[in-house]
Amino acid sequence: MPETILIERRGRVALITINRPDKLNALNIKTRQETAEALDELRTDDEIRVVVITGAGEKAFVAGADINEFAGRSAIQQRTIMKAKSIFTAAEDFPKPIIAMINGFCLGGGCELALSCDIRIASDKSRFGQPEINLGIIPGGGGTQRLTRLVGEGKAMQMILTGEMIDAQEAYRIGLVNDVYPADQLESKTMELAGKIAEKSPVALAMAKTAVKNAARMNLREGLDQEIDLLLFASQVRTRKRAFARSLKNAKPILRADNKKISTISQTLLAFSEAPFSRSF
Ligand code: COA
Repeated sequence: MPETILIERRGRVALITINRPDKLNALNIKTRQETAEALDELRTDDEIRVVVITGAGEKAFVAGADINEFAGRSAIQQRTIMKAKSIFTAAEDFPKPIIAMINGFCLGGGCELALSCDIRIASDKSRFGQPEINLGIIPGGGGTQRLTRLVGEGKAMQMILTGEMIDAQEAYRIGLVNDVYPADQLESKTMELAGKIAEKSPVALAMAKTAVKNAARMNLREGLDQEIDLLLFASQVRTRKRAFARSLKNAKPILRADNKKISTISQTLLAFSEAPFSRSF
């Protein structure tokens, strides 16, 4: 049973709440570990199509890494911890869409967690920042990379070099968040969006997420090539699903999928997909 997060299932949507409101949901080692474990569990949970991450209480989404844990660590210890697979990478690589429901301070590692999610919905009371520079350090959870890709170099540079906070409207204006709602509507609006996405084919969602993420990882030619592979993969699974459904009804199976069209990368994805996703159809 996790101690620092809450996990709630609402139909096809899982809600993970970082639950340290007295510390403004700052990420300590336990929180990171429990969040990563929760994502691991939800990864293969057929019932869950979309994950929403939020912070407990009314004040904060996540106010950054737990500053108290910095003390007493050598640089090499800190480097080893930070180079290990992080919750930021876990969220980015998670095969289902993740929405950050931002309900207050979204700072440092909190902003980096939101940046690692696929969509960010904020309350009008939220405040955003990368304040690490005020501590004489720089972001270490992908902030310099993901923020720059999302809002552009100039805006990212300003936030990271000044460490100043911006409000929700400014975050919306620069493209850091997708939408802003009054605090009392944040949950219903976010859940409405999550529910809408959760109705889509899980394979198509996974392929779409991978394809869009590739835009930042690959050059245009590679990204376009892989987009076709991912599209073909999604359509192959669809064909199989229909054939399977028909065979169940004793109809003649129509397995017309041409496996030669699946490239090496899609073969890998096929293996991955056949496990949890095939049962979801
Ligand atoms: N790590 C550990 N504890 C944190 C924290 C963090 N990143 N952010 C807030 N807290 C704790 C505070 O120490 C305080 O705990 P206490 O009541 O035991 O003293 C509690 O959360 C409430 O914070 P407080 O500072 O009293 O609230 P505030 O409304 O006056 O200020 C902030 C809110 C977010 C402006 C302020 O807490 C802050 O600047 N936090 C640090 C943000 C940061 O630098 N994050 C990046 C870290 S790399």
